[in-house]
Amino acid sequence: MRKYLLSDVDLGEEEAHAVAEVVRSKWLSLGPRTAEFEKQFANAMGAKYAVAVSSCTAAIHLALQAAGVGHGDEVIVPSYTFVASVNPILYLGAKPVFVELTGHHDLNLDPADVLRKITSKTKAIIAVHMAGFSADMDRIMTIAAEHGVTVIEDACHAIGASYTGAAGSRHRDAKAGTMGHAGCFSFFANKNLVTGEGGMLVTDDEEIANSVRLARSHGMTKSSWDKAAGRAFGYDVASLGYNYRGTELTAALGAIQLRKLPAANARRQELVVQYREHLVGVSGISMPFADRIEDSAHHIFPVLVDDPMLREPLRQELDARGVQTSVHYPPVHTFTHYQSSRKEPLELPVTEDVAAREVTLPLHPLLTDEDVVDICARTRDCLQALLPRSVANRG
Ligand SMILES: Cc1ncc(COP(=O)(O)O)c(C=O)c1O
Repeated sequence: MRKYLLSDVDLGEEEAHAVAEVVRSKWLSLGPRTAEFEKQFANAMGAKYAVAVSSCTAAIHLALQAAGVGHGDEVIVPSYTFVASVNPILYLGAKPVFVELTGHHDLNLDPADVLRKITSKTKAIIAVHMAGFSADMDRIMTIAAEHGVTVIEDACHAIGASYTGAAGSRHRDAKAGTMGHAGCFSFFANKNLVTGEGGMLVTDDEEIANSVRLARSHGMTKSSWDKAAGRAFGYDVASLGYNYRGTELTAALGAIQLRKLPAANARRQELVVQYREHLVGVSGISMPFADRIEDSAHHIFPVLVDDPMLREPLRQELDARGVQTSVHYPPVHTFTHYQSSRKEPLELPVTEDVAAREVTLPLHPLLTDEDVVDICARTRDCLQALLPRSVANRG
């Protein structure tokens, strides 16, 4: 029986050769390849500045720090995201203010709830572009401008996605990650662009770019590469920094992966079209974002099971039939650490309901159309086997 992985990566001889070249160069940390990758990435996204960092978590941390977020400040963020969107808020002693999702059709943060929860203490909003579909950046940017807060895009799922927005949107055709004050990307091993670990921050704001460039390397005014290249002899520490540097190995991989990205994202889109064609009308599940296709990077393919009691049995059945699945995401506000550090109770009914019903099916550019047809057939078979049980249980 053919087995289907949830995600897979397109890495070949070109990447192997590029990494071998870095090894032979004997310069592995931040250096000229990183500078070149930053330039290429900024161009591809249409951003003025790109700063390579060690992860998206690091990028979010440094973006929040550049926005002046500190002790006692509030940062608005969806709970329906990976915990790494939220942890950096705590690193800075600030408070995450969790907002609801727009709905079961749109798993992005709800601008109406952002408006309800924004206060004089709000310093920033983190907009996560779920599954590859941009959040409503027109409304989020308007709300942010009216309240003078910084918008940080967590574009980990949406690398290469173009925004459509409302008619006449000033962000139309902008790349995800370039509409807010700073955009953060991950190149983690399962992303649309992979370097193993690694990330990038993009911005059009020179002050943010300078702040992040300093802070990624201990706040030092000169890099080790500057010294090795004979361009500097000493350094100052101008601000508090971290070791969040990118490496030459990840930059070499990233440059090749960046070239492959448009075709890889286009392939993901074709596979999502296949999925929709073969799952539409299937009893027991629905597909979020069903009215959008071209404005996504299609990082993952989420479906919602009508009956939350069926979610785990469905995953087990699929696993037994060779289809690996996942859950995106357990809501952050329900994790022990987040519950125990909160004083007041918090309910996010849409988030909690979506999170109880979500199943992620395999999606990566190495799948064939036939693979997707087969995964859909296996999903239908599993649901058919389970649904009478579900109806009986409820009856
Ligand atoms: C939505 C989201 N935010 C943040 C991250 C963190 O990225 P990294 O692992 O590069 O820190 C991820 C990675 O899985 C993610 O999916």
